[in-house]
Amino acid sequence: MELLRPVPLTRAHDRTGLRSGADTLDEYLKQTSTKAQKTGTAVVWVVTDTALKVVAYMTLSMTAVARTSAPAFRRGSPVLIPGLLIGRLAVDQRYQRKGLGTRLAIHGLNVAVTTSADVGFKAVFVNARDADARRWWVDAMGFLPCDPDDPDCLDLYRTTADIRATYEAHARATLAAEQ
Ligand SMILES: CC(C)(COP(=O)(O)OP(=O)(O)OC[C@H]1O[C@@H](n2cnc3c(N)ncnc32)[C@H](O)[C@@H]1OP(=O)(O)O)[C@@H](O)C(=O)NCCC(=O)NCCS
Repeated sequence: MELLRPVPLTRAHDRTGLRSGADTLDEYLKQTSTKAQKTGTAVVWVVTDTALKVVAYMTLSMTAVARTSAPAFRRGSPVLIPGLLIGRLAVDQRYQRKGLGTRLAIHGLNVAVTTSADVGFKAVFVNARDADARRWWVDAMGFLPCDPDDPDCLDLYRTTADIRATYEAHARATLAAEQ
């Protein structure tokens, strides 16, 4: 089925049918996403089918993480580490394991790269909802635990510098392939 590229949520989108397997994430889309976006708490990026039914979404917000809860950053870091937060990410079960979650997360990382040219922040942060989601963020998306000594740490990050380096390497490879 054809899917449209990620765009910020509007009233035209049907938010009622998402079944990601995580009820709280489905409910958030239904009940809270419009208000969150209207009040500036988050921008809700959605992927829809051609009937504008949401099949995946992600929230992006600015955040600040206390250095004390992110030992990975201790050396020379400010007391509050500025970051971009991927607050929620969910893919409808019919579309899981087809690369959609990766594509949406990469869209978030691309937003981080472009935004970081104008607004300084140290990292993109994610709070994985459980061990399975954590595995996905670490194995598929290259995120690292904020506390490297805690093997179960659900607070994860990728530095803006690392994301930018990956983005630039990818852009160079694409250019080379086109020549
Ligand atoms: C986690 C979630 C967003 C992943 O989205 P997705 O579209 O299913 O993931 P993708 O298809 O892009 O996954 C890409 C890769 O990750 C792998 N992968 C998928 N789920 C994984 C998991 N739980 N652990 C480790 N790897 C996983 C896939 O095998 C694939 O690797 P491959 O290309 O080498 O085969 C989705 O499963 C989901 O919505 N889960 C319920 C809600 C949730 O947990 N959200 C996370 C909130 S923090």
